[in-house]
Amino acid sequence: MLPTALPTRKRRRPEVAFARGREEVKFRDVTLYLVERRMGKSRRNFLSNLARSKGFCVDDALSSDVTHVVSEGNSAQELWNWLEEQGFGEKHDRHVLHISWFTESMSAGQPVPVEIRHYIQDPSVDQKSSAHSSAKQDSTVSTYACQRRTTLNNHNKIFTDALEILAENLEFCGDQGPSLAFRRAASVLKSLPAALRRQEDTQRLPCLGEHSKAIIEEIFECGSSSRVEEILNDERYRTMKLFSSVFGVGLKTSENWFCRGLRTFEQVLSEPSIRLNRMQTAGFLFYEDISKPVSRTEASALKIIVEEAVICVNPFATVSITGGFRRGKEFGHDVDFIIKTPEAGQEDVILPAVIERFKSQNILLYSDLQESTFDIRQLPTHCFDAMDHFSKCFLIVKLKCEQETDARAARDWKAVRVDLVAPPLERYTYALLGWTGSTLFERDLRRFARLERGKLLDNHALYDKATNTFLPANTEEDIFAHLGLEYIEPWQRNA
Ligand code: CTP
Ligand code: MN
Ligand code: MN
Repeated sequence: MLPTALPTRKRRRPEVAFARGREEVKFRDVTLYLVERRMGKSRRNFLSNLARSKGFCVDDALSSDVTHVVSEGNSAQELWNWLEEQGFGEKHDRHVLHISWFTESMSAGQPVPVEIRHYIQDPSVDQKSSAHSSAKQDSTVSTYACQRRTTLNNHNKIFTDALEILAENLEFCGDQGPSLAFRRAASVLKSLPAALRRQEDTQRLPCLGEHSKAIIEEIFECGSSSRVEEILNDERYRTMKLFSSVFGVGLKTSENWFCRGLRTFEQVLSEPSIRLNRMQTAGFLFYEDISKPVSRTEASALKIIVEEAVICVNPFATVSITGGFRRGKEFGHDVDFIIKTPEAGQEDVILPAVIERFKSQNILLYSDLQESTFDIRQLPTHCFDAMDHFSKCFLIVKLKCEQETDARAARDWKAVRVDLVAPPLERYTYALLGWTGSTLFERDLRRFARLERGKLLDNHALYDKATNTFLPANTEEDIFAHLGLEYIEPWQRNA
């Protein structure tokens, strides 16, 4: 059990970061008002102080001085109902705007010109134009996953499953480029608020190439895709899928085994010329357990175990679930944890100590500790390699179960894959964002930062090429704001 007097895990936003009252107002014709409803008090305070620190005048009350009303998360209807209740009078020089105008202005360091897309129109005043604008919104699904909200509620699973099998098959063939195109197409469909009803619905969507559209068309007509059926029966696809499902067996090894005529685990394990490495050995040993999905309940049980171990080393360190579970998934292939240490340098000792403790508890089945290779002088990284340089470990641990999983073996535990990462404190936010995923969401965040904003983002830092400076961030919201992006909650990052 956890000790009851844990240090408070939820840290307050560092409101002290902006000293109030002394900022000089730089933009005299603009007075902002941020709507607290849905935004929440603390975020509103934070954004207000951020704006003041950049020379904006922010009114706490909806006074007659206000020129720009900014709202986040409210529907047009509820916002305008509320504004009416406040006696908000319409004036031609008064703008009611979406948070995107605010984030873009913060990023630019000055009020950006108001464009049509920034407005939140009063639905009762102009039915026609609001109908028009919602139709327009439909046609402007972003090509970047980081500008789409993708929950786990996928209305187009029949199409996305097919497209992802095509993508996976191309990956198995080493065609990374075409594979990514299918992944992007699937991701766009996952973000839609409803199922496609007919082929024409795909017309205005980005990232859907001819091949993707043809697959969708066939599914509309026949209920399934013949190409997908073909792949599912393909010997190479099936074998690659099987081999690469083993922890420690990547695409290269899978292909090598396939090319040598091997098709089953038995054949691999009885082939005398194959020498498995330590990771692959563990992968086969615990295959039955770790190939099964881990549930959210199991993830929570593991969190307590990890927390206990971490707190033994450092009572002020905190543990958070990241990866798929942070995005709201009910099942995962592993459980990812990120550890926050209150002082610099502690991140290097915590993981070895956690591993030692698991050993002494007799729950460690496999561990691969990767010590930190992080060197602040090597930032910014121009080419992103999938791995970051933080201290991390990939583990297989025993998780006690209620019932015995296997009566014959009389086991009361299940083997579970666990990933731990411990970044230095000042790198924590970037690491948290990077480890939350999804992979495609992260990829597009970095691509968006580079191509649209001239900034370099990775798990270590955000760097502005124009000013040659690193941009500080205490929260994920700060990073989105630096990029001029609307904040996307973790559960909306299932791109
Ligand atoms: N990640 C990373 N650096 C690593 C390992 C992982 O940045 N060295 C990131 C991945 O890009 C991913 C996230 O950590 O976005 C979680 O990785 P993973 O556990 O593989 O995927 P999940 O999204 O958690 O999916 P699942 O539920 O299947 O585990
Ligand atoms: Mn995971
Ligand atoms: Mn992981």
